[in-house]
Amino acid sequence: MKVLFVNCCIRGEASRTLRLCRVAIEAIHTTFPTAEVEELCLDQEALLPLHSDTLAQRHALEVAQAFDHPMFRYARQFAAADVILVGAPYWEYQFPALLRCYVEHISVSGLTFAYGEDGRPHGLCKGDRLFYLTTAGGPILDRNCGFDYLKTLLGNMMDFKKMDYVAAECTDVIGYPVEEELQKAEEQVRAQIQSWR
Ligand SMILES: Cc1cc2nc3c(=O)[nH]c(=O)nc-3n(C[C@H](O)[C@H](O)[C@H](O)COP(=O)(O)O)c2cc1C
Repeated sequence: MKVLFVNCCIRGEASRTLRLCRVAIEAIHTTFPTAEVEELCLDQEALLPLHSDTLAQRHALEVAQAFDHPMFRYARQFAAADVILVGAPYWEYQFPALLRCYVEHISVSGLTFAYGEDGRPHGLCKGDRLFYLTTAGGPILDRNCGFDYLKTLLGNMMDFKKMDYVAAECTDVIGYPVEEELQKAEEQVRAQIQSWR
């Protein structure tokens, strides 16, 4: 099993979300001893949103089927993974813009999805599982827009079937038992990974 860990925990070692991701990676190794986990730390990537020039360049490369171009390295890596583990803090009801830039780079027609003769998209990725981890300063309630967005995109365009999340909430609420909340989330992470067997 090949796991791609898309690390969008911008605060690095201070990140509570990264703490959950580390628990997830440990649980993956324990539950699936032959699993390989590859990490992509978005904070270390020079990711930019598509602009007029890069969009035109990408379109020309797609038409020429020149998918070995370095521009497509994120999409190739994404398409080759069995499991996508995303760690991203809850920012503005969603996630950091860096992750949205990454989404533009993995959404490549001919690599991660393709349009069928009926005009509908279908998936070309090896994997069909997304595991999304987040922590939020306040309560999320029914506004987990980051996960909901990825679920919509990966489910509809790339045929992902197994999409789950774990969230620790109220991490910035003074007086809230944050450590208990994080430990509860860690247990949920372990239980979810066990259920993949
Ligand atoms: C730029 C920014 C935006 C944030 N937006 C929200 C938000 O919309 N709702 C919320 O509950 N918390 C928000 N927070 C608080 C974070 O969700 C919270 O601190 C989270 O635990 C951060 O995760 P981390 O420790 O992994 O960095 C925001 C924090 C930052 C820095």
